[in-house]
Amino acid sequence: MKRSVPDLMTAAEPLVMVTAYDYPGGIHAERGGADLILVGDSLGNVVLGYDSTAPVTLNDMIHHARAVRRGAQATFLVVDLPFGTYHTGVTDAMRAAVRVIQETGADAVKMEGATPEVLDVVRVLSRNGIPVMGHVGLMPQTATAQGGLKVQGKDEESARRTVDGAQALQDAGAFAVVLEAIPARLARLITERLTVPTIGIGAGVHCKGQVLVYHDLLGLYEGDEKKLAKRYAELGRDAREAIAAYAAEVRAGQFPTKEQSFVMKDDVLGKLY
Ligand code: KIV
Ligand code: NA
Repeated sequence: MKRSVPDLMTAAEPLVMVTAYDYPGGIHAERGGADLILVGDSLGNVVLGYDSTAPVTLNDMIHHARAVRRGAQATFLVVDLPFGTYHTGVTDAMRAAVRVIQETGADAVKMEGATPEVLDVVRVLSRNGIPVMGHVGLMPQTATAQGGLKVQGKDEESARRTVDGAQALQDAGAFAVVLEAIPARLARLITERLTVPTIGIGAGVHCKGQVLVYHDLLGLYEGDEKKLAKRYAELGRDAREAIAAYAAEVRAGQFPTKEQSFVMKDDVLGKLY
């Protein structure tokens, strides 16, 4: 059964979120029992091959989210608003969010940061019935301005900015807040202060929930080890080995066999000679 916003906000059990970007990913996430699926703009890195999330467009997000929804019709679906789509005023942000909800069947949108501009957007969207998930700590869309993909909240100024940002997002109406790449004790403090759930990635065990990127959790890129992610499978290795085995069998005339071949009656064949 699909979780509702109030249900997610008051859940007793830890919340499980995983990203997905296409129809099979949606199926895997739903059948694997995720409470929430995020169509993250990490799409840019793990699916589209960009070196950042900045080039991802609203149309990219909608295209992929529609496919995820076809595979996961009974799971709460969150879609990232990509870079540049919620920074030019609340009207533009509202239009982008409405497109996502109407065209993909998403249940909520997510956006990064807690600047006054973003807080205005969170306020207007949530007041008008579009659930918003916030995101503080490491924010990949603006990582260049943060000095690269670095752990945030280590010094007092950055820690304070992260705590205040999470609190401000809650006050503006966010129903949950992602904490990315911050010290575990800081995430614990934020989780204790907020009444809405925190969902951590690289933020320790004390968050209300956790999120992992599909490709990280399944080990789809060989050798791409990340401190903040655990690889629960090695599908990249498995895929490479499977394709190499297929290639070897084709080259040796061992595939296909009778198993994969179709038969016809001898008399039909005779008439062709
Ligand atoms: O885009 C994404 O995958 C995310 C998660 C890491 C939270 O924003
Ligand atoms: Na994201």
